[in-house]
Amino acid sequence: MIKIDFTGKTVLVTGGAGFIGSNIVGRVTRSGGKVIVLDDLFTGDLKNIDTGIPYEFIEGTVTDYELVRGLMARSDYVCHLAARNIIISTKNPLEDYRTNIGGTLNILLAARETKPTRIVYSSSASIYGNPRILPIVEDETPVTFSPYSVSKLAGENYCYAFFETYFVPVGVVRYSNIYGPKQNPANPYCGVISKFIESIEKGESPQIHGDGHQTRDFTYIDDAVEGTLLALLSPRADGMVFNIGSGSETSILDIVAILSDICGKEVNCEHIDRRDIDNIRRRVLNIERTRTRLRWQPQVTLREGLRRTVEWCRTLK
Ligand SMILES: NC(=O)c1ccc[n+]([C@@H]2O[C@H](COP(=O)([O-])OP(=O)(O)OC[C@H]3O[C@@H](n4cnc5c(N)ncnc54)[C@H](O)[C@@H]3O)[C@@H](O)[C@H]2O)c1
Repeated sequence: MIKIDFTGKTVLVTGGAGFIGSNIVGRVTRSGGKVIVLDDLFTGDLKNIDTGIPYEFIEGTVTDYELVRGLMARSDYVCHLAARNIIISTKNPLEDYRTNIGGTLNILLAARETKPTRIVYSSSASIYGNPRILPIVEDETPVTFSPYSVSKLAGENYCYAFFETYFVPVGVVRYSNIYGPKQNPANPYCGVISKFIESIEKGESPQIHGDGHQTRDFTYIDDAVEGTLLALLSPRADGMVFNIGSGSETSILDIVAILSDICGKEVNCEHIDRRDIDNIRRRVLNIERTRTRLRWQPQVTLREGLRRTVEWCRTLK
């Protein structure tokens, strides 16, 4: 069993002011590590990082090679999360290409010189498209329906190539619909759960794109952080990809029903048109590889995760 302990180690977290990154910063710091955050604050906000915890913040971009190399020279581990999200990427694929592919290549190029203990690259279950078989295993053939999934997969492919060619110790995690505290509904690019909670709490109708029967594998943030850090600390992650999900398939309508129950409010949904990014019908991940190789197990049930998220959203008022 790997113990999450970063005592005496420095972890560079790119995108550390974002939703997942800020939660990772908190967990690494509480586990004894020093953290350097590199973020251009495009969607991130330093308010996401818990007050009172020590970290070094560098405002800058992963597309700046010299900056990346300098920070990596001072780091033992790298959690590479900085990315343009699917909405930005769909509007501007070139911007996505520069950050998501160019930024990842910079991290890997710098690793050849600075020799970190390990890098974890955060990829996305969106690379599976509409899969042939559910639950989806890591070896499923990728189908890239969006510029975002193209760039996330390209980043992965660079990771495998740098592991094979230059022996850069890098592992990949594929996240599926992470939700939880710090996913601020005020951020227009944030996930569906925070937006639903905001509408339900205000007594408004949550807007559902399409019929609501589309399914996803919703993963609580603490479980995603744990899986990411186990990959960061494990030599068994090198050159490998791991699904990070709950292993359960849930429809959007089910999410609304559970939230309505937790919030104690009756909800009438408003169905609106599907967006150009809503082209995946069903998703649920097979998480056996992550369980067996990293000894990782999601701990938080959907209902409990949603309850904690509602509680957090209430603190924002
Ligand atoms: N949230 C999810 O459900 C999910 C699912 C699959 C994959 N991911 C991946 O996880 C990572 C983190 O996602 P998130 O949900 O926390 O998103 P987020 O938008 O909250 O965080 C991304 C962070 O990266 C920063 N950033 C963007 N471009 C940058 C650049 N050029 N240089 C430095 N920093 C930059 C942003 O300011 C932000 O703080 C991303 O790589 C994303 O592709 C997330």
